[in-house]
Amino acid sequence: MPQHAERFDQFDGVGMSANIAGMEQRRAAARLGGGQKRIDAQHAKGKLTARERLLILLDEGSFEEVDMYVEHNCTDFGMQDQVIPGDGVVTGSGTINGRLVYVYAQDFTVFGGAVSERHAMKICKVMDAAMKVGAPVIGLNDSGGARIQEGVASLGGYTEIFQRNVLASGVVPQLSLIMGPCAGGAVYSPAMTDFIFMVKDSSYMFVTGPDVVKTVTNEIVTQEELGGAVTHSTKTSVADLALENDIEALLSARDLIDYLPSDNRSGVPERPTSDAWDRIEDSLDTVIPANANQPYDMHEVVRKVLDEGDFFEIQPTHAANIIVGFGRIEGRTVGVVANQPMVLAGVLDINASKKAARFVRFCDAFEIPILTFVDVPGFLPGTAQEYGGIIKHGAKLLFAYAEATVPKITVITRKAYGGAYCVMSSKHLRGDLNYSWPTGEIAVMGAKGAVEIIFRQDIGDPDKIVERTREYEDRFANPFVAASKGFIDEVIHPRNTRRRIALGLRKLRNKSLENPWKKHDNIPL
Ligand code: HXC
Repeated sequence: MPQHAERFDQFDGVGMSANIAGMEQRRAAARLGGGQKRIDAQHAKGKLTARERLLILLDEGSFEEVDMYVEHNCTDFGMQDQVIPGDGVVTGSGTINGRLVYVYAQDFTVFGGAVSERHAMKICKVMDAAMKVGAPVIGLNDSGGARIQEGVASLGGYTEIFQRNVLASGVVPQLSLIMGPCAGGAVYSPAMTDFIFMVKDSSYMFVTGPDVVKTVTNEIVTQEELGGAVTHSTKTSVADLALENDIEALLSARDLIDYLPSDNRSGVPERPTSDAWDRIEDSLDTVIPANANQPYDMHEVVRKVLDEGDFFEIQPTHAANIIVGFGRIEGRTVGVVANQPMVLAGVLDINASKKAARFVRFCDAFEIPILTFVDVPGFLPGTAQEYGGIIKHGAKLLFAYAEATVPKITVITRKAYGGAYCVMSSKHLRGDLNYSWPTGEIAVMGAKGAVEIIFRQDIGDPDKIVERTREYEDRFANPFVAASKGFIDEVIHPRNTRRRIALGLRKLRNKSLENPWKKHDNIPL
C-alpha cells in the first residue's frame, strides 16, 4: 500500500469520528471559558463574553480562532490544578465588511482576563500576523491586569505587547475597546494604539485605583469618576469615544474600520456612493451669519460637503472647539479637521491643538488626505494656557501639518487670524489647494484689536476708532489680500465646495512629496 494511503487509513471510519468527537469536546470545553457561573456573572454586569463580542464585531461566520488550546505554564500557588484552555484570551482573525482584521478578546471569566506569559504570547502572535500581512489589530480589553500568580513572567508578557504596539504604530491601524477593567501598567498597551473606545459604566482605566489614590493623596473618588468612559472621553482625552454598551461599542468599531486603510501602504478604502461628486449645496452660500461674531455650526458645513453627510467624529466631547473625524469624498476616505465657532469661538487652545495634531499625524501615517475648514480667531490667551505650555502644545499642531505629505486641501470659511492662520494647513505649510469663501477674513488679528494697538493714540476718540476699524476691515476682512499674494489659490462659491474638493482630490491622487531623510523627527512632546 502506498504510504499516503496508509496515513488516510488511520483516520478512516470509527477512529476518525472518535478523533473528531474528541476535538469537538476540547473545543466545547475551551468555548466555555471559566464556566457557566462566571459567564452568568459577566452577563449580570451587562457585559458580553469575549466570544459573544467577537460575533458582533466580525462579519457573520468570518472568525477563525487560533491558539484555542494554549494553556498557562505556571506551577506556583496551585496553578497547575487550574488550567483553562485558551488561557483567558480569544485570538484570531476575521473580516469587517469583507476586509481582514486581526483580533484578540480578553475573557474575564478566566482568571479575570488576567495576563499570563502565554496569554500575552497569544496576543503577540496575532499582532505579528497582522504586521506581516498589513491588517488592523483590534483588542477587546477586559482584564484584571498582570496574572498575579505569575509575577514577572506576566510583566515580561505585557512588555512584549507594548513593544509590538510601538512597532505596529503607523504601520497597521490599532484599535482598543475597553470593555471592563484596565488598570495599572495594563493601560499602556491601549494608550499606544491609535484609537480607544470605552463602554460607559462597565469599563475603567487608571494607573492606580481609588484605594491607592485615597491612601496617597487623601482624595475620595469613585472608579467611574477616576477613570470611567465619561472622564476619559471629556476630561483626559485618553478615550476617543464613550459608548452606551458593548453592542454600541462593537458596532462603532466596525464603522471606524470601514474608513481606515488596512495598513500604511494600501491606500484608503473605496466604496460606491450615489452622492454626485459635483453636488451643489446652495445652503452653504448662506451659512455664515451676517454678524462676524455670531457662531454657526461647522458640523453642518462638514456634513454638507462629505458623501451622504456621513461623518465619523473622533473625540466629539473633548476640546469641541475643534472637530476631527473621517468622511468620504467620491467614496474615498478623507480626514477632516475643522474649527468650531460654536465652542469658544473656535479658538485654538492646548487641548484642541493636541487633539488635532494627533489626528493629522494619524492621517499622514496612513496616507489619508486631510481637509481643513478654517474659522479661527487665534490662540487662546491667559495664564492657564501659557502656564500649561500652549507654546509646546500649539507647536504640535503646526509641526503635524508641516510634516504631513498627504494631499492637503484647506477651505477658509471666515476668520483666519494670526498664528492660527499659519497653523491651519496654510499654503506656507505645503497646503496643496487653499481655498477661501468670499466671507474669509485673513489678517494678523480682528479689526478691533488691531486698531487699538496701531492707533493707540486715538483710543480716547470713539469716532476715530470706528473709522479706523472700518478702514482695517475694508483692507483685511476679506480673502483678496491673501489671494493677491498667491496664499489663497482661489476664492470659491461656498455652494461649490464639494465639487472643488472632489476635483482637487482627484488631481492629488498621485501626489508625491518626501521629507528629507531622517531617523525620525523630534515633534515637541
Ligand atoms: C489573577 C485575577 C486577577 C489577577 C482578577 N483575578 N484579577 N487572577 N490575576 N490580576 C481573578 C479573581 O481571582 C477571580 O477569580 C476572577 O478573576 C474575577 O475577579 P473578581 O475580583 O471576582 O471580579 P470583580 O469583583 O469584578 O473585580 C475585578 C477586579 C479585581 C477589579 C479586576 O479582580 C481586582 O482588583 N483584581 C486585581 C487587580 C490587580 O491588582 N492587578 C494587578 C495590577 S498590576 P475567580 O476564580 O474567583 O473567578 C498590573 C501590572 C501590569 O497589572 C504591568 C504591565 C507592565
